[in-house]
Amino acid sequence: MSDIDSLLHEDRRFAPDPDFAAQAVAGSELYDRAKADRLGFWADQARELLHWSTPFTQTLDWNNAPFARWFADGRLNVSYNCLDRHVEAGQGDRVAIHWEGEPGDSRSLTYAELTAEVKRAANALTSLGVRHGDRVAIYLPMIPEAVVAMLAVARLGAVHSVVFGGFSAESLRSRIDDANAKVVITADGGWRKGKVFPLKPAVDAALADGKTSVESVLVVKRGENVVDWTDGRDRWWHDELAAAAAEHEAQPFEAENPLFILYTSGTTGKPKGILHTSGGYLTQAAFTHKAVFDLKPETDVFWCTADVGWVTGHSYVVYGPLANGATQVMYEGTPDTPHPGRWWELIEKYKVSILYTAPTAIRTFMKLGREHPQKFDLSSLRVLGSVGEPINPEAWIWYRDIIGGGKTPVVDTWWQTETGAIMVSALPGVTTTKPGSAQVPLPGISVDVLDENAKPVGLGSGGLLVVTEPWPAMLRGIWGDPERFIETYWEKFDFEGSPNRRMYLAGDGARLDEDGDVWVLGRVDDVMNVSGHRLSTMEIESALVSHPIVAEAAVVGASDENTGQAVVAFVILRAKQAEAQTSEEASAILRAWVAEQIGAIARPRQILIVSELPKTRSGKIMRRLLRDVAEGREIGDTTTLADTSVMSVITDTLK
Ligand code: WT7
Repeated sequence: MSDIDSLLHEDRRFAPDPDFAAQAVAGSELYDRAKADRLGFWADQARELLHWSTPFTQTLDWNNAPFARWFADGRLNVSYNCLDRHVEAGQGDRVAIHWEGEPGDSRSLTYAELTAEVKRAANALTSLGVRHGDRVAIYLPMIPEAVVAMLAVARLGAVHSVVFGGFSAESLRSRIDDANAKVVITADGGWRKGKVFPLKPAVDAALADGKTSVESVLVVKRGENVVDWTDGRDRWWHDELAAAAAEHEAQPFEAENPLFILYTSGTTGKPKGILHTSGGYLTQAAFTHKAVFDLKPETDVFWCTADVGWVTGHSYVVYGPLANGATQVMYEGTPDTPHPGRWWELIEKYKVSILYTAPTAIRTFMKLGREHPQKFDLSSLRVLGSVGEPINPEAWIWYRDIIGGGKTPVVDTWWQTETGAIMVSALPGVTTTKPGSAQVPLPGISVDVLDENAKPVGLGSGGLLVVTEPWPAMLRGIWGDPERFIETYWEKFDFEGSPNRRMYLAGDGARLDEDGDVWVLGRVDDVMNVSGHRLSTMEIESALVSHPIVAEAAVVGASDENTGQAVVAFVILRAKQAEAQTSEEASAILRAWVAEQIGAIARPRQILIVSELPKTRSGKIMRRLLRDVAEGREIGDTTTLADTSVMSVITDTLK
């Protein structure tokens, strides 16, 4: 049976434990309330969960769809909401972050300490000229300074663009340029797999030709790395913070003030700068963090294992938990350093009660064996979450049994960089869970599954996942490219004559089961999902063809037991090179090249050197057939190929 077949035959059910349900944050009345008055429901959440300097009177303005405005006449400061107000409410001594460095150093910051550091950082950024609306790029490892930097930028009403530390100088550069960042915040390096990986050299390379909007680079000292220094541009973070004033009063900004840009892969070679704004985003980040994880801020210890370079880190390391005044764990390094039980050791050490991670990690731990988690006391865990890709029922069950002691609810949460916060998920204590299904739209969220003609497929069928009503944390656009925003998400299902009935196309295939629960099947476009990270086939193809030895390239996402999907590339070499190099040599050169161009996460698992690529008569590469090769299946229907013998040429070469 294929993965999808076994997913669809899954019939195990886990009803909420009555004791858990009796204490649960969420109850079924949330659904009733939202159903009766969707906008009123969100307005309630915005008022209950956030502090508004100027209360809003209007909940949603959708007249200019698909450009939404939420709570538009309200004003707030996001950083104040995540920090000062908790201190003012007497919770200054509560730990905000228990941070653990990979080598074993650790640091716990209370809300008072975190607030003090963010104030200094905001003053330091102000003296570097950062003003309301300016963009600041953040390229840091998982250290507390990453959180401080984000909140300091937000405090000024400026816009952060966090670039994952695993991305290359090239990728960093294109993101800096696209957003015209004024300042870059980086570090000398960070710890990974027992070594310090350098970050500053990538920043230097990204800015090398001097044709840049960047005026200053702030450098956090994390490792003992020797760094090159550009006088007048580079400054040490610790020097600037020490010199900065301690007090900083947060000014309120409009609810629609841009908060951050986060780049994600689309179907073309160029990553999209997804734009999120303040009031709606923070409302949904806070609401979902509380309801989906059953958060009790006084007693819980939350741990989301995502890097702040991804949206999961934005919403569930920074904004959700801190808006809710939660205590959380933040870990710098890799799960298996220095030993394969590191995560479980941390859960025991900090008594983590809520864990949020990705299926790829769970599958890796399954492979390593249950003896590692079983060496540690995991009894503090009471809710487990999954995100980033479909979770196969076996991994779901293992997660619940081995990590959750067979008792914790597991919530599989579907959402995207674009949605800003969780959209579809079970609610612990409320929903009877089904392993492998993301289940139901949250209260206040409306999704459906449509066929190509915009007809709802109905129960028991599959199609395209759409969001049918605007939601508070929705993206407000693609930075600098309103056209692409409309084309990518809103054009397929716009209903002529009623412009505000547009629906959001998620890019995922999904099926509704007999109960109406959602089973997300994966991307329907040229976007791959490798270990929960989003990669574009086109972006990797562009990187490959930019190498002088490559004539043509085609990339597919092939299914992979560990990483969900893996990058497999088919490459035709230029004639001269084809003679000068063996396939193994060429493939090694190109794997390294892709890692250098985009980042190690994009490095193809396999590069197959071929002499032809399968194309239709109109010249379109038939990736479906290449996927058959990459997954070792029998080749499917080849009748639409311009030259039907191509596939046998390819399979012969590979033999
Ligand atoms: C894509 C979005 C949302 C944070 C991490 C990824 C896939 C995400 C699930 C899930 C099945 C999922 C989808 C989606 N995805 N969560 N629970 N079940 N698929 O954010 O990088 O923007 O990727 O990840 O394909 O479109 P992202």
